Amino acid sequence: MTTQKMYNRYTITAALPYANGPVHIGHLAGVYIPADIYTRYLRLRKKDVIFVCGSDEHGVPITIRAKKEGVSPQEVVDKYHQLNKKAFADLGISFDIYDRTSSPVHHKTAADFFSKLHKENLFVEKISEQYFDREAGQFLADRYIIGTCPNCHFPEAYGDQCENCGSTLSPSELINPRSTLSGDKPVLKNTKHWYLPLDDYEEWLSDWILKGHQEWKTNVYGQCKSWIDNGLQPRAVTRDLDWGVPVPLPGAEGKVLYVWFDAPIGYISATKQWAMDHQKDWEPYWKSPDTRLIHFIGKDNIVFHCIIFPAMLKAHGDYILPDNVPANEFLNLENNKISTSKNWAVWLHEYMESFPDKEDVLRYTLCANAPETKDNDFTWKDFQAKNNNELVAILGNFINRALVLTWKNFNGKVPPAGQLTDDDLAVIEKVKKIPFDLADSLEHFRFREALGNFMELARTGNKYLADTEPWKVIRDDPERVGTILNTALQIVAKLAAFGAPFLPFTSKKIYEILGIKELLWEDALEENILPAEHQINESFLLFEKIEDKVVDDQVNKLAATRNMNLQEKEKAIPGIKGEIAYDVFSQLDMRVGEIRSAETIQKSRKLLKLTVDIGVEIRTVLSGIAMQYSPEQVIGKKVILLSNLQPRNMMGIESQGMILMSEDREGNLRFLTPDGASENGSVIS
Ligand code: 2FM
Ligand code: ZN
Repeated sequence: MTTQKMYNRYTITAALPYANGPVHIGHLAGVYIPADIYTRYLRLRKKDVIFVCGSDEHGVPITIRAKKEGVSPQEVVDKYHQLNKKAFADLGISFDIYDRTSSPVHHKTAADFFSKLHKENLFVEKISEQYFDREAGQFLADRYIIGTCPNCHFPEAYGDQCENCGSTLSPSELINPRSTLSGDKPVLKNTKHWYLPLDDYEEWLSDWILKGHQEWKTNVYGQCKSWIDNGLQPRAVTRDLDWGVPVPLPGAEGKVLYVWFDAPIGYISATKQWAMDHQKDWEPYWKSPDTRLIHFIGKDNIVFHCIIFPAMLKAHGDYILPDNVPANEFLNLENNKISTSKNWAVWLHEYMESFPDKEDVLRYTLCANAPETKDNDFTWKDFQAKNNNELVAILGNFINRALVLTWKNFNGKVPPAGQLTDDDLAVIEKVKKIPFDLADSLEHFRFREALGNFMELARTGNKYLADTEPWKVIRDDPERVGTILNTALQIVAKLAAFGAPFLPFTSKKIYEILGIKELLWEDALEENILPAEHQINESFLLFEKIEDKVVDDQVNKLAATRNMNLQEKEKAIPGIKGEIAYDVFSQLDMRVGEIRSAETIQKSRKLLKLTVDIGVEIRTVLSGIAMQYSPEQVIGKKVILLSNLQPRNMMGIESQGMILMSEDREGNLRFLTPDGASENGSVIS
C-alpha cells in the first residue's frame, strides 16, 4: 500500500520532444505547462529540484524527414532543437537544462547503460527475419516499406500503419510491398537483436504499480493494469539503422539502440550535463532513495515510462524509480484531433510570433483546459473568453483597481491597516485558507483545480472591492478606505506569489509594480506582506482585451493552412491582401527618419524604446525588435516611419508611429532603409 515518504530532493522530467518538428499546444497542455507549474511551485517552497528536458533526436521518422528534404538527420535535429528550445524559453518553461540526445554525454550514458545490462546477461538475443533492401544494402524499418493496404486497398500504406483507414499493420501484411529507399521489393533476411525480457519483470511490475502505486491517476493506473493483465512480451531494444546510439558490442555494426531505449536515459544524461555545467553532483538526483522522481508525459508515453523504463532501471539496479507519472490525455483543437501531418495545430513558435508578451494568456488557457482526466478542447473563442472574462475582468481588474485607488488616494503609499471590520476579517480568513487548498491541488497534480484556487483569490479580492466600494467611501471616511486598500494590496502581493507558478510573467510585473522582491511560498502566507507607508511604483495594465478580429484571424489561418505539410508551410509566403483604393494608400504618412536613441524596456523582452528624428519633429516609438537588435546596433539607422498611425500606449509609454520592417520566413525582422542619402522627413509616396 501507499506510504507517505519524506523527500529531500526532486527530479522532474518532461518528455523529450522529437526534434523533427515544432512543439504545439497539445504538448504544452499535456506535459510542459503542468511540469513547469509543479517545478516552479517546488522552487517556491525552497525544495532542491532539478527540471530536465531536451530533444529526442533519434528514431526513424527523423531519418525519413531528412531523406525527404535531402539533408542529414543532424541538420534536421539541429534546426528543431534550436526552434523548440527557444520557444519553450519564450513561454517561460523553466527547464534547468534543455539537452539533446545526440550529445556525446548522452551517447556514452546510453551505451554504458546497455553494456551493463548486457554484461549481466539481462538481455535475450534473438535472430529474426526482417525486410532488407538489396539495392540500398540495408534493413528496412517498418516505415520504410510501403504497399497496398490489405483492408482498404490504399496503395501508399506504411509497413506499420495505413494512414488512410488507420489500421495497424505489419510489413508482411502489405500487398506488393516496396522499399521507399530504392523502390525494390524487399526480401526477408536474418538479423540479430537484443531484447529486454519484460515478461521476467511482470510480477515485480504488478507488485510495484498495481499494489504499490494505487495513488497514480486513474488513466495511468488503468493503462498499466491493462498492459500487465494482457501479459508482457520481450521487447527489442536495438534496431538496424544508421542513426542513433551505436550498439556497443563487437559485430553489431549498423545497429543502434532503439530510440525508446535511449530517450528516457536522456533524462539521466541531461542531469549529468547540468551537473557538469554547474559543478554539482548528478548522482543524488538519480540514485538517492530520498529523491522523488516524477515523469510528466502525454498518454501515448505511458507504457514507456511506467513499464519499460522502470524495468530498465530496475534491471540496472543503481537507480531510483519514478514515484509518480502524472500523464495527461490529449488536447483537441477546434473540435478536431491535433495532427502534425494535417497541420492541424497551434505551434508554439508561431503563437509567440503572433502574441508576443501574451505568454501568460496561453499558459492560463492551457492550464484551465488541461486534459487531466479526459481529452479536452482548445478553441480560439475560448482563449479569447478566458482572457477577456477572467484575466482582464477578474485578475487584472482587481489588481488595477487596488493600485489605481492607492495612487489616487494615498499617493502610491500603502495605507495603514487601521480598524478591521468583521467583513474584512472574514475576507482575510478566506484568503489565508486558499494557498493551502492550492498547495494540496498541486501536490496531487490537479492543476486545473489549483488554477481555480488561485483565481478564487482574485475573485475574493474583486468581490471585496465591489462590496466595500472604497471609491464611494473616500469622501466621508478616508481611514476606512485605507483599511480596505491595505487589505486589498496584501491580496495583490499574494496573487504575485501564488500565481507565480502559473503566470510567471504577470507575477514578475506585479512584483515590479509593488516594488518588492519575489516572495517564497512561506513568506506569502503572512497576513501583512506590505508594510504601511511602503511606496509602490506606477501601475500599468497587466492584461488587455483581445478583440474578435484577432481570434477570427487565427481560426482563418488554421483553415487556410490545413493539410499543408511542414515544408510547404515554412515556404509559404503570406498571400496578397485584398485590393485597396489609392485614396486609402494616400492617407498613410510615411517618412524617412533616423534613430537617434534606443533603450531597452525593463518590463519587455521584445520592445525597444526609440526616438526617431523625422525632420519636422522627434518621435518616441516602441518597436518589437529587441530580440534581434541591441540598442547600440540601431542608433543612427535610417528608417521609414508610418507617422500618422494612431498613437498606442504600451508598457505605459506612448508609441507615436510605426517603423516599417520586412519579415522573413523565420520571422526575422529587417529595417527598410532608403536608398542613398534621403533627408529626414522626406515623404514616401
Ligand atoms: O513521444 C515523444 O514525443 C517522445 N519523443 C517522448 C520521449 S520521452 C523520453 F523518454 F525521452
Ligand atoms: Zn487502409
